[in-house]
Order: sequence, then C-alpha cells, then structure tokens
Amino acid sequence: MKLSDIEFRAMQSSGRKWGQTYFELPLFQRMGLNVKDKDILEIGCGNGYGGYLLNQLKPKSYIGLGVMEEQIEIARHKYPQYQYMLQDATDLSQFANASKDVVIIFGVLHHIPEWRKVLDEITRVLKPNGQLFLEEPRGVDIKFFDFFFRWGHPDSDFGLNAMEGYLQLRSFKFQKQWTPLMTMYCAQKT
Ligand SMILES: C[S@@+](CC[C@H](N)C(=O)[O-])C[C@H]1O[C@@H](n2cnc3c(N)ncnc32)[C@H](O)[C@@H]1O
Repeated sequence: MKLSDIEFRAMQSSGRKWGQTYFELPLFQRMGLNVKDKDILEIGCGNGYGGYLLNQLKPKSYIGLGVMEEQIEIARHKYPQYQYMLQDATDLSQFANASKDVVIIFGVLHHIPEWRKVLDEITRVLKPNGQLFLEEPRGVDIKFFDFFFRWGHPDSDFGLNAMEGYLQLRSFKFQKQWTPLMTMYCAQKT
C-alpha cells in the first residue's frame, strides 16, 4: 500500500536515515546479519537508503523492491548504481525458488493486508537455512501513530503475535529483540 503524505515525508527525513544507520542496521548485525557475498532481497525498500547501507556491506547481489513509484524514482535517482524495482511483495514470481540467502524488511509487513502472502513468497525464495531479518511495530504503536499523527495504516489483522505464529507455521526458527519503536527479528528457514 502507498504511504500517506505524512509518513512519506517521515521516511525521507534525516531522522529516518539516522535510525537505520546507527540503530537498526547495527542491531540486525548484532543479531547475526552478514550479507557479504550473499544474494539479498530487500522488501519495501522505500527511498533506497537501506539499500545504500546494505550495499556498503558488499553483498554478491542486492535487489530492493517497493510499490510506491515516487519512492522507487527517488531510490533510482539517488543510488543509480543499485537495483530497485517497482513490485508488489505479494508476488515475487520473478525470483526463483531458493535463490536468496537473506531477505530484509525494515518495517513493511504492517502496511500489507496480505502480509501472509509475502511471508509465503519469502519462504519460497529463501535458500535452505536462509535468513529473514525483519522489524515491525506492535499494534499499539501503529494505533498511536494513526491516532496522533494520522499516518493512516491500512486495516489489517497484522500483529506481532500473528506474525510469529505464521513464521512458526512456515517452519522458521527465530530470535527477537524488543526496542521502543520496533521489534527486530532474525528468522531462519529450517
Ligand atoms: C514504513 S515504509 C518503510 C520504508 C523503508 N523500508 C524504510 O525503512 O525507510 C513502508 C514501505 O513499504 C512499501 N510497501 C507497502 N506495501 C507494499 C507491498 N505490497 N509490496 C512492496 N512494498 C510495499 C511502501 O512503499 C513503503 O516504502
């Protein structure tokens, strides 16, 4: 789903970059993220800054995808050396089965009412023992932002408990780390 204007602006802010650079990516790394020489896919790549950071870690291949044309244009303009695609994450059919070592999501599933389909697709494209790193907010935090800042998230049954249950159903083993805005996960396909 497209972002509201206010969330779109928040995603372009220097605060967002600061958070990804100094907090979220390092925390994923402490949880085991290592993309060097790996085939990686970023779901919901926004304006491409996460892709820029990930590419500094020298993956073998990187593709970032998202559904918002305006953001993908910014990503392609700012970082023309990296690959960004306009693509809905519920359909990853252009990627072969077991073709990715690592999939990364910085706060996206709570924007996608059909989030289970995205997890199904990720399960398919990950190699055996491949890893999914993701961060998502709690339902209460989504409600807070919608009530006070009118971020306008979609109606969805997404929640961390539901997501954890679905990861287990899809045979992922995971560890998680709570932070004030997001809960961070390292999930391994078994
Ligand atoms: C909260 S923003 C996060 C953007 C970026 N990951 C970041 O952390 O700055 C959510 C992103 O999910 C993308 N998105 C929403 N629905 C999507 C879908 N069905 N498939 C792919 N991306 C989607 C939006 O375009 C937006 O870029």
